[in-house]
Order: sequence, then C-alpha cells, then structure tokens
Amino acid sequence: MATAAREHWSSRTGFVLAAVGSAVGLGNMWRFSYLAAENGGAAFVVFYLLVTLCVGIPVLLAELVVGRGSQQSPIRALAHYGGPAWKPLGFAFVAAGFLILSYYGVIAGWTLRYAFEAVVGGFPADVANRFGEVATGWDAFGYHVLFMGITIGIVAGGVKGGIERTSLVMMPALFVIVVGLAIWAATLPGARPGYTYYLSTDFSKLFHWSVIKDAAGQAFFSLSLGMGAMLTFASYLSRDEHLPASTLVIAGADAAVAFVAGLVVFPLIFALGLQDRVSASTVGALFITLPQAFAEMGGVGRIVGLLFFVTLAVGALTSAISLLEVVVASAMDGLGWSRHRAAWLAGAAITLLGAPSAWNTEVLGVIDQVANNLFLLGGGLALSIFVGWVMHDPVAEAADGTEGIQWFPVWQWLLRVVVPIFLVLVLWFAIPETWTAVKGLFSQLSR
Ligand code: PFF
Repeated sequence: MATAAREHWSSRTGFVLAAVGSAVGLGNMWRFSYLAAENGGAAFVVFYLLVTLCVGIPVLLAELVVGRGSQQSPIRALAHYGGPAWKPLGFAFVAAGFLILSYYGVIAGWTLRYAFEAVVGGFPADVANRFGEVATGWDAFGYHVLFMGITIGIVAGGVKGGIERTSLVMMPALFVIVVGLAIWAATLPGARPGYTYYLSTDFSKLFHWSVIKDAAGQAFFSLSLGMGAMLTFASYLSRDEHLPASTLVIAGADAAVAFVAGLVVFPLIFALGLQDRVSASTVGALFITLPQAFAEMGGVGRIVGLLFFVTLAVGALTSAISLLEVVVASAMDGLGWSRHRAAWLAGAAITLLGAPSAWNTEVLGVIDQVANNLFLLGGGLALSIFVGWVMHDPVAEAADGTEGIQWFPVWQWLLRVVVPIFLVLVLWFAIPETWTAVKGLFSQLSR
C-alpha cells in the first residue's frame, strides 16, 4: 500500500513554510503588481483581500482537510471520499500542474537570467529590446531548462530531504529581503506618489466586473488553490496538525508578501517616472520597467536589482516545487513509480511543454488565462462542492487536532453556498473571455 510507506514532514514549521513557499511566488510579485496596476491600484487590492478572506481561506482549509484526511495524492484522495466518479477532477488537477508549471518555468527562467546578468554585467540601458531577446527563443528555453532542472532535483530529493529542507532555508531569507527592499524603497523620492497610486481606492472601479474576475483569479493563483497543490502537501501531515491555524498563517503570509512587494514595486516605478509603462501592462511589464529602474540607478540599482530578482527566483522555485509535486505524487501513488523516476520523467515532459511559451509570450499569456480562469477557478468550484456537499462530515475531519472551532459552521456555509455561487458567477464571465483569447491566439498563429 502506498499509504504505509508515505513520507511525512518532520515538523509543523516544515509543512507551514513549504505551503507558504507554494503560495508565495511569481504570483505575489509579478502578477499581483501588474494586475493592481492594470485595475486601478487599491480598488483591486481591497477586492483581492475580500476574496481571499471569504473564498480563498475556506477553499484552502477544504484542500488541507481532504489531503490530511485521505493521506493520498489528489486523484486517490477524491476517490477515497467521493468514489471513482470524482477521479476526473483529480486528473484535471494533474493537468493544471502540467500546464501552469510549463509557462511558470519560463517566467522563472527570466528571473534567473536577470539575477545572473546583475552579477556579471549589470542591467542594460535598452531593457525593452533586451527583454525581447531574453524573453523568447533558445535563450528563454535554456534558462527554463535550468530552472526546471533545479526544481526536479529538489522534488526528487523527497518531502523531508528536498522540499522541506529547501523551504526552511529559502522562505525566511525571502521574507527578510522583501521587507528590506520595502524599507529601502520608502527612502526613494518617488515613494509618496507610488504609495498614493497603490493605496488610494477608486471605489468606482471596485465593482467592475473585470476587477472582480481578476481579483478572484489572483486569489486562487496566489494561494495555489484549485489544483490540489495544498491538498498534496497536506497529505504528508499527521493527524494532530491544527489545520485552521495553518490555513490562517499560510493565507496571512501570502497576502502580506504580495502587499509588501507592492510597497517595493510602486515607489520604484514612480521614482523613475516609469508609471505610464506599467499601466500599459503586459506579462512583461515588470521585466522591462523594473530593470530599467535598476539600470538608471547605477551601482545601487545593480545590488538592489540582484536582490529583487534572486527573491523572485526563490519564490518561483518553492512554488514550482509544489506544482511538480502534484504530478509526481500522483504518478507515485497511481502508477507505482519511484519518486526519482516520477520527478525526472514528469519534469522532462513539463519542460518540453514549456517550449511554446518560451518562443511566444502571447502563447504564455493565453495559457496563463486558461489555467487560471478555467482550471483553478473551475477546480475550486468543484472542490468546494465536493467538501461542502459530498464529503461526509468534513467538520469532524477539520476539527481533528483542534479543540473545536467556533467558526466551523461559518466555514461550511461559505463552502456550500457563498463560494460556489461566487465562482459560478465569475466563471460565467471568465469562460467566454478566455475562449475569445484562445480563438484570438489561434487566428494570430495561423496568419
Ligand atoms: N502560488 C504561486 C504564486 O503565487 O506564484 C503559483 C502557484 C503555485 C499556483 C502552485 C498554483 C499552484 F498549485
């Protein structure tokens, strides 16, 4: 039996840091800032926090409950509680892992590249052109391969020896650097207008459909929800873990890092008068605007830029680990593969799948939309229905390791009613929009 020999975390801190490592990543620094810029600053931030509280936290707890309760990888875990009819959802989780990691590795490759360049030659002045070269083609693919190689190596090292050990070292370092960068950014001349832009709420934007949809997608992406990553990590927990407490720590740390990253990015952009470029936001905005800011700052910019991109790369790495672990755990449980074999074979397949994103950033952007709008939000919807309505007594499972929590009924009510209704509404708009983006891409590619 796979369960008999199941690996476990060696400590509670190990699990929490690994889960925070999964949550904190490119989403917090790259995606959050560009979405906030695109959606009018604080209006987006406010809505994002609301969605995290009312939707993200309940779904996160639901994933942890299913993972720890079943002690199995996603496909089996769902079948364990819901019967074989729920297996396809598990397969969708694995497919999402494949899809997201394929382009996530490409963006992570850009961060490695910039960190490397900061060390050897500094940031070039004509960053926009430079980004065109770095972002696509063999250059991009090469760094993607390098990044994937590191990710695979860590996952092959196992839950304790690979994933936990990496998170224990890297996450505290990441927190210290991000806070340090925010303190430094506060001293810049552009800090005040940067903060104003970031933190003043334009309430007229708050109830725009696109802001709501982007905030929902971002909350799921940022908390690694809707594809069984948190479920898989929780399957290596013992029964005495206090799941609600872990949920709050993970969600709090994730939102805090996204928020503090904004305190770095916006002052920097305003200090250099580069704000117009960010509001014309694309996936590449941060990778053009920020290096430009660093280049104009000379020696200081080189050091700060190095720290910034190393932090991004570290965040990306601990997230990529969790994406790969979903696939690896499923292959180990389902196909009986060894961890090494699963990590290297699945990792190699995902690396190859990244090629289209490495050669074309439009493809990357559309895959990102499909993954978020369809897979993560759809996966979250299915999972909330599963735990809310199908699973027998999820509250008893969640309560294991606690002394009973007063807000469990609230949790159940959110999962049963609020989360599904909200996600159906969001999907109702997101599906046609995603479909249009996919069609647009195909017509562009066939031209
Ligand atoms: N949460 C990660 C980020 O914010 O960058 C991305 C991610 C990791 C999404 C793992 C989904 C996942 F399963």
